[in-house]
Order: sequence, then structure tokens, then C-alpha cells
Amino acid sequence: MSSSLQSFLHLNYCPLSDVATGKPSLLSVPSGQAVLEAEGLHFHYFDDADAVAGVSFKIMPGETVALCGHNGSGKTTLMKLLAGLLRPAKGLVRVAGAELNAKSAQEVFRTVGLLFQDSQDQLFCNSVGEDVAYGPRNLGLSDAEVKKRVALALNITEAQHLEQRPIHHLSGGEMKRVALAGIVAMQNSVLILDEPFDGLDPASTSRLVTLIRHLVSDHGYTVVMATHQMSLVPEVASRMLVMQGGLLIADGPVRELLTNVPLLEQARLEPPTITRFFYKKALLENRKPERLPLTLDEALKWQVGQE
Ligand SMILES: Nc1ncnc2c1ncn2[C@@H]1O[C@H](COP(=O)(O)OP(=O)(O)OP(=O)(O)O)[C@@H](O)[C@H]1O
Ligand SMILES: [Mg+2]
Repeated sequence: MSSSLQSFLHLNYCPLSDVATGKPSLLSVPSGQAVLEAEGLHFHYFDDADAVAGVSFKIMPGETVALCGHNGSGKTTLMKLLAGLLRPAKGLVRVAGAELNAKSAQEVFRTVGLLFQDSQDQLFCNSVGEDVAYGPRNLGLSDAEVKKRVALALNITEAQHLEQRPIHHLSGGEMKRVALAGIVAMQNSVLILDEPFDGLDPASTSRLVTLIRHLVSDHGYTVVMATHQMSLVPEVASRMLVMQGGLLIADGPVRELLTNVPLLEQARLEPPTITRFFYKKALLENRKPERLPLTLDEALKWQVGQE
């Protein structure tokens, strides 16, 4: 995002630096310790085949990880396992080194926040204000602190005007922003975001990109985000996990995986449009597709630099 757009956002809305002022996490992570760990995770719904079939990885504090894969590849199932909403058939999840189980779940819920793919599954109170307040209130915070967090979260997600509205009157994009406000208000230091950009208009998308970057770089949050919007992956994430049919088929730096077109095709994915353009151009010019830009800004910078 350009710095002018960033300063526009800072001028016109609540400064993002106010988002995480409290101590967000109750679980402390010793240095060198993964904040989130999946070890040999398996899960199947009823008698179906494995929706998640032996997935293992470690995520370090402060990482931003994009989880990509075709429809039905197991992203949502994996995210629910990581957040403790589903129990694995085999394998385990560790949060800050502690195994996620019935005993640790309560504390883990204070550390890990899950934004549901379908906002209707997340919102259950009558009004927007009540819904955003629900989580902080359950943390046992004072009324004043709850009020402060709700106002801040609604401001950050540009949903203040919706505070009194009944949930069932909201549009899809408004619901997404309110669900996000609920997560922001919890100040969970590990955010698991399932298709967070779905239904958002371009301005809200840019603001969410800025918010995620800010929480990670200035407040040490860790973010795992599932998305089909490949052009947003390099804007936010530095590492990428690729799923196919319940398996984790790749785990590596975004630049490496997003320029590996055969791998992406195998996973029924595509690189960002700008990357595809330069990839195809190189092939048409009988050149090896090397040094492919991942974003529009990068392409412009490199083109201008070459001239
Ligand atoms: N509640 C459920 N009951 C039975 N099967 C389910 C249920 N939820 C998901 N599945 C199945 O589990 C598999 C993985 O689904 P999941 O929702 O995790 O995929 P996904 O990668 O998130 O897909 P999408 O990109 O469409 O969101 C799919 O085959 C799906 O049909
Ligand atoms: Mg999903």
C-alpha cells in the first residue's frame, strides 16, 4: 500500500497504533518456541475421507502465513483444528508449547482468535454492539474497558455506524467487518483468519491489509490467513502453506511458491495476475521466467528501474 494511502487512513480514522494497547496474550512464548504447532494432524467428518490428512508445521511468533488451496482442500478444517473448535482424530496442536486439550482450551481461546469463513456462524447476538462486546465481557473486563474496546474495534473496522443495527440486517461485507471487530476487540495475539477479505470492498480490503501488517510488525501478532485472493498474499504474508486434498503439499517463502507456476497449477491455484502477466510474457519471448514481480508496486518499481 502506498504511503499516501496509509497516511490518509491514519488521518481519517482512528490510528491503528491504538489497536493493541493492552497485553494481548496470556500464554508466553519462550524464544525459539513455536507459537502454533500442528503435529501429524488428521481429521475426518463422520465416515468421510480425511479432510486433513497428516499435516505438520510450526509457526513462529510474528510470522504471517497464507494458507492456500482449492475448494475443499481442508483449509477451514485445519483452521478449526488450530483454534480448538474441532478435535483431531490423530495428532495434536500446540499453542505456545502447550498441548491444546480440554484443560488448556480456556487459556488458548484467550490467545488464539478465529475469524470464521462464514460470518453468520460467528455472529449470534441481536445487535452489532452486543456482539462485539460479547468476547471482551467474557474475559471479565470492566464495563469501561469493554466499552473502550468495542468503540476502538468498531472504529478500526469502520463499523461504528452499525453499532445499534440488528445483525440480521447487515450486508455480507458489513457482517465480515463486524465479525472482524469482534476479533480485534479480543486482542488475541494469534489471529487465524479464514477468508478475511471475502466480500470486502477495495477500501476495506486495503485497510485490513494495513491492520494486519500493523498488528504483526508493531505488536508482534502472529497471523495465519486462508485466502483465494492470491494477489493479496504477497501484500500480507511472507510464508505460504499449500493444501491439496487434505495434504500439505508445500510450505515455503511466498516469493518462492507464488512464482512456482507448475506447483500452483497442480494445486489448482494461480499466481497473482501481475505475476502471470510477466510469466507469460517471458514464455512468449522465449525467455526463462525469472525475477517475476508479485505485486503491482514491485512491477512498476522494477520496470522504471530497468528503463
Ligand atoms: N461439516 C462438514 N460435514 C461434512 N463434511 C465437511 C464439513 N465441512 C467440510 N467438509 C468437507 O471437508 C473437506 C474440507 O473442507 P474445508 O471446508 O476444510 O475446505 P476448504 O479448503 O476450506 O474449502 P473452501 O476453499 O471452499 O473454503 C471438503 O471435502 C468438505 O466437503
Ligand atoms: Mg474454507
